[in-house]
Amino acid sequence: MLEILNTIETEGLAALAAASDADALEAWRIAYLGTKGRLRGAMPMLKDVPRQDKPAVGKRLNEVKQALEEAFASRCATMEGAGSPAGPALDLTEPGLIESRHLGRRHIISRVREELVEVYARLGFRVAEGPEMEDEEHNFVRLNIPADHPARDPIDNFYVDDPDKADHPRMLRSQTSTVQIRVMLDAVARGWGPPIKVISPGRVYRPDTVDATHSFMFHQLEGLSIDRDVTMIDLKTTLLQFARAYFGDAAQVRLRPSFFPFTEPSAEFDMKIALRPGDEPDWIELGGCGMVDPNVLTACGIDPEQWTGFAFGFGIERLAMGKYAIPDIRMLFENDIRFLDQL
Ligand code: DAH
Repeated sequence: MLEILNTIETEGLAALAAASDADALEAWRIAYLGTKGRLRGAMPMLKDVPRQDKPAVGKRLNEVKQALEEAFASRCATMEGAGSPAGPALDLTEPGLIESRHLGRRHIISRVREELVEVYARLGFRVAEGPEMEDEEHNFVRLNIPADHPARDPIDNFYVDDPDKADHPRMLRSQTSTVQIRVMLDAVARGWGPPIKVISPGRVYRPDTVDATHSFMFHQLEGLSIDRDVTMIDLKTTLLQFARAYFGDAAQVRLRPSFFPFTEPSAEFDMKIALRPGDEPDWIELGGCGMVDPNVLTACGIDPEQWTGFAFGFGIERLAMGKYAIPDIRMLFENDIRFLDQL
């Protein structure tokens, strides 16, 4: 019997070492340690062992049992998933509940805005920002827009406080020209300018009736450059350089006389551009511009005898709609994923 036990032990340990997966391990357990396994199968032989040998054989039986059990336990511990039901617990090939993952992307207006900032940065313009909640001082007064100017009609602006009652009514800015004022006042107060060369992209608000080309909120890009001897030529050159950098070497710029209270002379500017590759270049109206009115410089503490400057402002949606053939401004703000995905 001792010999049989020795054989069970050596063969068992060898077979256990050879068991390479959870199934083989389980088969081994049944074969050696199971109720019908080899160890149990050897037990009835104990009754035939001579009485004086029984304690030694019994002891040996226990040793073999313990050796096999310990070896089995340590083999299980080193083999992941051993003892659990056959097959991987997690089937990575199982189809998911969502058919396709949706990848997000930046909104088209954010992307155009970044492209504009990038191009103007190469022309030496820093980005300046100002608050969307403004006051009449920055939105009108220092921009040389008199109290009786139609643009100041409360019906055409989003006032937050009653303009007739409060002594400092607040309003949502109707133009990014407010940032010109903030930048000039800041530059003078801190003593870092002029010269000043900034662009300011941002949201503006007007109570327009919403239709295909109007929205109560849209984005503008404002530009301001103040230095000694700045002229209209610098203005036109800057607009032309921008047009070429953004739309290609064939781009052209034209100025048409106009009027804005904060510039003198004032102009509207158009760009002849191929909005999309392959298109014929065509004139599109972009925005307003001009030489900063001396009244505005003075209102910001800058001496117009020493410094001159130009300014411009245009709508970012208009540019994006042209460039991406978007027929309706509302599409830009409805956030319909089927539309945004195409851009
Ligand atoms: N602020 C004007 C508007 O919203 C656009 C504009 C015109 C900006 C002339 C300028 C400028 O800086 O010089 O219609």
